[in-house]
Amino acid sequence: MPDQLGDWTRTHTCGALRTDDVDADVVLLGWVHRVRDLGGVTFIDIRDRAGVSQLVVRDNDALLVAAKRLRSEFVIGVRGVVQRRSDDTVNFKLATGDVEILVREIRVLSEAKTPPFQIAEDGAVSEELRLRYRYLDLRRPRLQHNLGLRHRVTMAVRRYFDAHGFWEIETPILAKSTPEGARDFLVPSRVHPGEFYALPQSPQIFKQILMIAGTDRYFQIVRCFRDEDQRADRQLEFTQIDVEMSFARPESVYGLIEPLMQEVFKEIGRDVSVPLPRISYADAIAKYGSDKPDLRCGLEIVDLSELFRDSEFRVFKQIVADGGVVRGIVVPGGNKYSRSQLDVLVDQAKQMGFSGLIWVRPGEPPLSSVKALNADALGTALARAQASAEDLLLMAAGPAEATSKLLGQLRLHVAKKENLLRADEFAFTWVTDFPLLEYHEDDARWYSTHHPFTAPLDADVDKLESDPGAVRAKAYDLVLNGTELGGGSIRIHDSALQARIFRRLGITDEEAKMRFGFFLEALEYGTPPHGGIALGLDRMIALLAGESSIREVMAFPKTSNAVDLMAGAPSPVDARQLTELHLKTQP
Ligand code: AMO
Repeated sequence: MPDQLGDWTRTHTCGALRTDDVDADVVLLGWVHRVRDLGGVTFIDIRDRAGVSQLVVRDNDALLVAAKRLRSEFVIGVRGVVQRRSDDTVNFKLATGDVEILVREIRVLSEAKTPPFQIAEDGAVSEELRLRYRYLDLRRPRLQHNLGLRHRVTMAVRRYFDAHGFWEIETPILAKSTPEGARDFLVPSRVHPGEFYALPQSPQIFKQILMIAGTDRYFQIVRCFRDEDQRADRQLEFTQIDVEMSFARPESVYGLIEPLMQEVFKEIGRDVSVPLPRISYADAIAKYGSDKPDLRCGLEIVDLSELFRDSEFRVFKQIVADGGVVRGIVVPGGNKYSRSQLDVLVDQAKQMGFSGLIWVRPGEPPLSSVKALNADALGTALARAQASAEDLLLMAAGPAEATSKLLGQLRLHVAKKENLLRADEFAFTWVTDFPLLEYHEDDARWYSTHHPFTAPLDADVDKLESDPGAVRAKAYDLVLNGTELGGGSIRIHDSALQARIFRRLGITDEEAKMRFGFFLEALEYGTPPHGGIALGLDRMIALLAGESSIREVMAFPKTSNAVDLMAGAPSPVDARQLTELHLKTQP
């Protein structure tokens, strides 16, 4: 039988006691973190989410016997008196390290089996084991810190939007399919045989309808569901900070979200200077080879095409003549690479998909992996790329976008290798003017880059039918350290334009009516111009916490295989449930 808590009330958390509390009678409740039995005296570290305190048991045989029975992760209560530690036993690593509690009474409130991994040590444990015993994993200080940070950020976000006149409004979880580009999770209806609800991939249509409904400014910290492959930054269910406002221009959204980022980063004691940089999608691709450029390292892609238009190096000349490009990046300090290091780099580039990567070393004369390039041409290329004597120029040629994207990958590879991406540096940017549509070769049709409710730039509307690929959107992403933190757009608020976009996407009028008829109808009842954004809360917390996976900042994430290892979901259900839902599973 465990001891009872009885009439004990906690006086302090395990992280609270300081020298001011010396001589106080205290009651602490928590988990046994560590026990050190030194014979005549036993030290016990007691832990709760606030921290750790040291308990001392001495000069009391009955208590020493009781202390000997304690094991890691037992839940105990202690009553005792706070003492100052002697100078040589102060523990500077603990906030409570100046004091200890001389124990007068111990109650064992709950015993614990030997845990499958150490809670007190932050040692390597397989993720499978951690997720199977998530309640133990969550007791570890790192995850406690992450959950606490997540809570504080969430509260800061709520305070911020409240102060700016936004209402938090809940939207349905049992909903109708919304097109965010992933697969839906479906929930069969018992009452309507053969019919399904879809879990929301985002509240997109609902928040737009809220604008039509006159709510003016909406936000929600909302769970979204997408049946897509799991990655370090993707889960089946995740949380968005979802925002929509009436009469918005892109600037209104930037002006709202930038100070929000300042508030959020205050939670980790960091300043964010605003306005944040902005770069168009086209420039981001050309300069960084990515629509989510990591701006912590320079390594900007430079265009060298003009230098090679009349080159003696026929490969480059031909590519430029055919409308392609020659582009490169400068590796700072890269001249130190040995020949074999360069060979490895070229091999790695080939694995990324480069058909060839050419290196150029500054020097008298400059050297290159391609003999056909003469010293003059090399010197001009180095000068154009602004490479110094210590640097190295890497060049590739081919179609513009593909070449930049490959150099973008290589850029990140080099940046990691050279340690140019510091986890404690935060480089934000807006990426603007995304293409409205993208063409998919496999089914030969156009898709929305963002989603079909995104408005085209006014200047480009005319090209919707004649040159769809050239139409830019009033769409923007917020990017931080190469991660897409959020995305949004100004929406179409005119039902005729919305219908035109659906047609452009190959959605027939009938299909549009069936899937979005309610929405198209709503647009006809007086729709204010509106726009918004959704930020990925999990990704944001992961970046704030310096974690490389969002699983580290979610209480109960699923594995990369989409399984909840602790509860064992998904799982079979009994036949009666299936019958009630009018479902049959296929063997
Ligand atoms: P989008 O699809 O870009 O936009 O999503 C917004 C942000 O949500 C986060 N996110 C995810 N996080 C974890 N796991 C996932 N599977 C996942 N998918 C997305 C990302 C992303 O930037 N309705 C629009 C927003 C709008 O237009 O206002 C939308 O959902 O951080």
